[in-house]
Amino acid sequence: MSFPLSRFRRLRSGSAIRSLVRETTLSMDDFICPVFVTEGEGKREEIGSMPGYSRFSIDELIREVELLVALGIKAVLVFAMVPEDKKDNTGSEALNQNGLMPKTIKALKINFPDLVVMTDVALDPYSRYGHDGIVRGHEICNDPSIDLLAKMALLHAQAGADWVAPSDMMDGRVAGIRHVLERHHFTQTGIMSYSAKYASCFYGPFRDALNSAPGFGDKKTYQMDPANVREALKEVMTDVDEGADIIMIKPALAYLDVIWRVKELLTVPIAAYQVSGEYSMIKAAAGNGWLNEEEAIIESLTSIKRAGADLIASYFTKDIAKIL
Ligand code: PBG
Repeated sequence: MSFPLSRFRRLRSGSAIRSLVRETTLSMDDFICPVFVTEGEGKREEIGSMPGYSRFSIDELIREVELLVALGIKAVLVFAMVPEDKKDNTGSEALNQNGLMPKTIKALKINFPDLVVMTDVALDPYSRYGHDGIVRGHEICNDPSIDLLAKMALLHAQAGADWVAPSDMMDGRVAGIRHVLERHHFTQTGIMSYSAKYASCFYGPFRDALNSAPGFGDKKTYQMDPANVREALKEVMTDVDEGADIIMIKPALAYLDVIWRVKELLTVPIAAYQVSGEYSMIKAAAGNGWLNEEEAIIESLTSIKRAGADLIASYFTKDIAKIL
């Protein structure tokens, strides 16, 4: 059928019919809210490069998460800010049983037993070099880092984390983590693996939030080349084989094709991370009056879901909860 028998605009003629034929809708079932936690009490520090986003001390975080839960948010992804004097090259603070991360996990699970608590597993916030693994010379060492990451994941599980999310991109770390969890009978702890994590400039504001920028070099020897997509397929398949329950693609908006390709390949749930730079670009443009913030939030998140993401980690989670 061709024009005038077919007229596509009939399906767009009013908001009710548009919503009836809409293929993709956002729901609070989709979202994971990243949270930044810092030592001390009574602290809410706005992050300079992430307008409207803050780091919280545990007491303030509990207050904030109360609001998130009331808004229908079901999962948080916790990142800890580590003071400079506790950073080293062995991850000793990452393995501290009384460290900020285990304390935060316990506080969250005591106050919100039904909240899904996910934790970032990587060395960079704890590393004197700002790298995701152990550094020797100028090399980011793979195998010794796996051991450490597995211990870190175990510590989070012991503190009560429901999910651990390795974001380091070392080879073999999902298997390392899974085996250690099994050995210690944490059979129900989930692994959401950052499987296709690209060496992206869009992490800039996040590194500002945690003061975790690499002290030398870059992350291109472990994070993926933005030019590649077949390599992403290899990464996600390997992580599923090694025991990942959910795989993640990161960043989101510049990698929608990767999300789509992985969706066609795998049957496990797929998460996408709308990263700090994606957040800050929208915030900056909206702050300047160059685009409508609410529309930009909805459009960007809808695209990510349309591409195939089942879960979305986004700094706009609270905003979208209010919008929906
Ligand atoms: C650390 C980590 C990073 C992000 C999540 N975990 C930064 C990096 O790899 O340098 C980025 C998140 C964001 O930009 O929002 N392993």
